[in-house]
Amino acid sequence: MRKSPLLSIVAFCGVVAASSPFAAEINIVGLANTCNSCHGMDGFSAGQANPSIGGQSADYLNKVMREQRSGERYSSVMGRLLKSYTDEEIAALADHYSRQEWRAAVQERQLRLSLRGKRVHNMVCKKCHGAKDNKAKDETIRLGGQWAGYIQAVLNRYVDPKYQRPSDEMAEAVNSLSPEDIEAVSHFVASNK
Ligand code: HEC
Ligand code: HEC
Repeated sequence: MRKSPLLSIVAFCGVVAASSPFAAEINIVGLANTCNSCHGMDGFSAGQANPSIGGQSADYLNKVMREQRSGERYSSVMGRLLKSYTDEEIAALADHYSRQEWRAAVQERQLRLSLRGKRVHNMVCKKCHGAKDNKAKDETIRLGGQWAGYIQAVLNRYVDPKYQRPSDEMAEAVNSLSPEDIEAVSHFVASNK
């Protein structure tokens, strides 16, 4: 059966609308609603497994989400979730969360772990992440006040050759850390302000 000319026109318009820069405006509140249950209303996440994202740089957030979507970067949930998101939606989300205030999670500090963690931090992390781990520009990110459990999970993957590491430079620097050093430095960084 021949397609009716009207249907073809409708289909054609659909294609144009989807790829045009004037495509329907992005409803950022609606989009961010999907993220709230894990990353909080303003990107301040609840719980050790979900990283806080509010106040990180837009460039970093945008890059990470694109890499998660393509599978280039390890993720447990994000890659699957982002499969249906367009580049424009990811850019809008990155912009939205970068405009939120970074809130440091209050985490109990244990003296013994902190002292060991501080030593590791001074030797290994400080030169890239800063004395206060508060960089939110250039290529590094905010870490002070991030959840310790998340930092620890990231580092455990960095020392495990099974995983692809997003920063070769960092991989080289943290490669020889022991599990005890990793636990301690994660603990220290989480409450470093
Ligand atoms: C079911 C919980 C869940 C939902 C919903 C969720 N995330 Fe995540 N997000 C995570 C977890 C867990 C990680 C750590 C990576 C992983 O294992 O997937 C993460 C990581 C991230 C990161 C990387 C942060 C970093 O410092 O590397 C960004 C950015 C992010 N999420 C943005 C979003 C956005 C935007 C949404 C909504 C579209 C969203 N997330 C929805 C759980 C979630
Ligand atoms: C040579 C520079 C360098 C050193 C040293 C370094 N980092 Fe990083 N780190 C980076 C860069 C660059 C990124 C962002 C790369 C990316 O994830 O795309 C990063 C990202 C991170 C992340 C976030 C990763 C994610 O996926 O959310 C954590 C956590 C982290 N670093 C912790 C540490 C800790 C703790 C130390 C010390 C034990 C350390 N880093 C040492 C450069 C460095």
